[in-house]
Amino acid sequence: MKVSTGNLIVYLSLPVLLVLYFATRLFEMRRKMRGLPKPPHHPILGHLLIARDCVNTFPPDAHAQVFGDYIRRKYNLGKFFYLDFWPFGDQFLYIADPDIANQVTVGSSLRKSPLLGAYLDILLGNQNMLGLEGAAWKLVRSMFNPGFASGHLMTLVPYIVDAAVVFGDVLREKAEAGEVFEMEEIATRLTVDVIGKVTLDVDLNSQRSEHRIVTAFRKRVAMMPVTRPADPSGLLTKYINAPWLWYNGRKLDRYIGEALDQTYAKRSADEKSRTSEDSKKKNRSVIGLALDTYEQEIQDSSKNHGSSTKEGMDPAFRSHAVDQMKTFIFAGHDTTSSTIAWVFYLLHQHPDVHAKVVEELDHVLGPKTSNPADKIRAETYLINRLPYLNAVIKETLRLFTPASTIRYGDPTVTITDPDHDPSQTYPTANFHVWVIAHAIHRNETYFPNPRAFIPERHLDDHHPSATPFPHAKQHKDALRPFERGPRNCIGQELAMIEPRVILALTVREFDFEAVYPELKDPREVIEGHRCYPVLKGSAKPKGGLPGRVTVR
Ligand code: HEM
Ligand SMILES: *[C@@H]1O[C@H](CO)[C@@H](O)[C@H](O)[C@H]1NC(C)=O
Ligand SMILES: *[C@@H]1O[C@H](CO)[C@@H](O)[C@H](O)[C@H]1NC(C)=O
Repeated sequence: MKVSTGNLIVYLSLPVLLVLYFATRLFEMRRKMRGLPKPPHHPILGHLLIARDCVNTFPPDAHAQVFGDYIRRKYNLGKFFYLDFWPFGDQFLYIADPDIANQVTVGSSLRKSPLLGAYLDILLGNQNMLGLEGAAWKLVRSMFNPGFASGHLMTLVPYIVDAAVVFGDVLREKAEAGEVFEMEEIATRLTVDVIGKVTLDVDLNSQRSEHRIVTAFRKRVAMMPVTRPADPSGLLTKYINAPWLWYNGRKLDRYIGEALDQTYAKRSADEKSRTSEDSKKKNRSVIGLALDTYEQEIQDSSKNHGSSTKEGMDPAFRSHAVDQMKTFIFAGHDTTSSTIAWVFYLLHQHPDVHAKVVEELDHVLGPKTSNPADKIRAETYLINRLPYLNAVIKETLRLFTPASTIRYGDPTVTITDPDHDPSQTYPTANFHVWVIAHAIHRNETYFPNPRAFIPERHLDDHHPSATPFPHAKQHKDALRPFERGPRNCIGQELAMIEPRVILALTVREFDFEAVYPELKDPREVIEGHRCYPVLKGSAKPKGGLPGRVTVR
């Protein structure tokens, strides 16, 4: 083939054009950062050197949320700052202040970042509540809201007690064996059982056996590519694992679909035997209540359309519900199990706190030998009378924050610092906006001595153990493990009730001590903790929190 001069010019100019394009883009990206609060910014490398510094400072598997506080302190930055990892990562706006955080989650609620959206769509399906936006999100949220209301959840407390009792048996066996085990592992099995029962009304019984839904789901999480800011290596895993993820996804959807069908059949049978409206509403799983709402809507609209859904579950609802069930399993088990594991860890580190928890439980539930499980089953409201234990859980969520929100900026939404010139606005457009709850939780203005574990700081002033710390300064939105605004955690009531029940029934009997292998790399400790957060779906304790349990 003869190459003409014309073609030759095209071939030769292509690389030149590419270089030109890249240079223009680089210039644009770096220029976008001008005048914005940020750490020292290299004209060519942007913040890539800072990314490298973070990666070198922290253990390689540390959750990137720990970088925020580190950068903020190292460069003496303010309430928010911008970071530029282009072209190896994205450009971010990091928010480390509750008021500014509220500007993008409450005042305006920015849409979720595509960084997370892509991950969640693969993991959970593209109808998952976490990633949906606009009217589609609103519909699902309102359908599932009633099931997660605390009044309704309180009717399900006896099932949480059942799971907690099995958990106690498991701990007792571990204590007898005296072996090192991963706390996160057994706590996950526990929280999966609770989620299965509460949301889907299935007995997964995964504390005692392998359930196919749980097995398939955990395989899926393990296969998911992990991406961190300024670290594109996860992309590779994404393509390699794609066929397996697809195959696993089909299986998982089928298993959950079948469980849904069973719940539906059971519900229809119950319906026939039940009479009063009152008993119908009682002891309903979250999905059961959602079905009520959905069918009500169908009934209302079928008056116009004349369609009927007598035969089985409505297929549109069913396919939606499958993605929501995956979402609840995903969002509801990891976060809660990590919290339970970290509470056990912290109680051992703080025997004085542990003693106060025991004292409160003795007082409210009677001696531990008096069958407190039955007592809670009969008088569920008792678990709302444990303010100190509740404060322990809050303080654990403050120090070890399992989740946070990453949004995507919008040209119509800017932020302002109310303490400075309010006319000075800063853009969100074309930035990923990360509200770093982990960093907000470490601000000494709101949480004096922020790295210390002090549950007392969350108590009401009239509590006998009320703290010497200045409450007045505590911002009502400074503690935000569940985020704020319309996209806050739908499961937050459950996430507070569930650990309370479980811990109330176990911490008097057991003491858990973390046992990590010998420290080889001095970086493998963050803020004095070997069980620092690693990124695995949510932020989870390193190594699954290995340790030993003893009977107290
Ligand atoms: C300690 C436990 C938990 C923590 C720390 C936590 C934290 C959060 C956070 C920070 C968000 C916002 C995420 C974002 O904006 O991307 C969220 C959303 C959500 N959480 Fe939780 N969560 C917990 C437990 C639960 C439980 C038990 C469920 C129950 C199924 C649940 C279900 C959800 C759902 C469905 C959303 C999305 C809500 C929406 O977008 O409207 N979470 N959670
Ligand atoms: C509701 O009660 C029935 C019968 O007592 C039980 O089989 C079912 O598992 C319960 N469902 C939930 C979600 O608690
Ligand atoms: C903590 O919050 C205060 C009040 O908003 C702020 O002035 C201060 O800079 C914050 N501290 C850090 C370390 O960011």
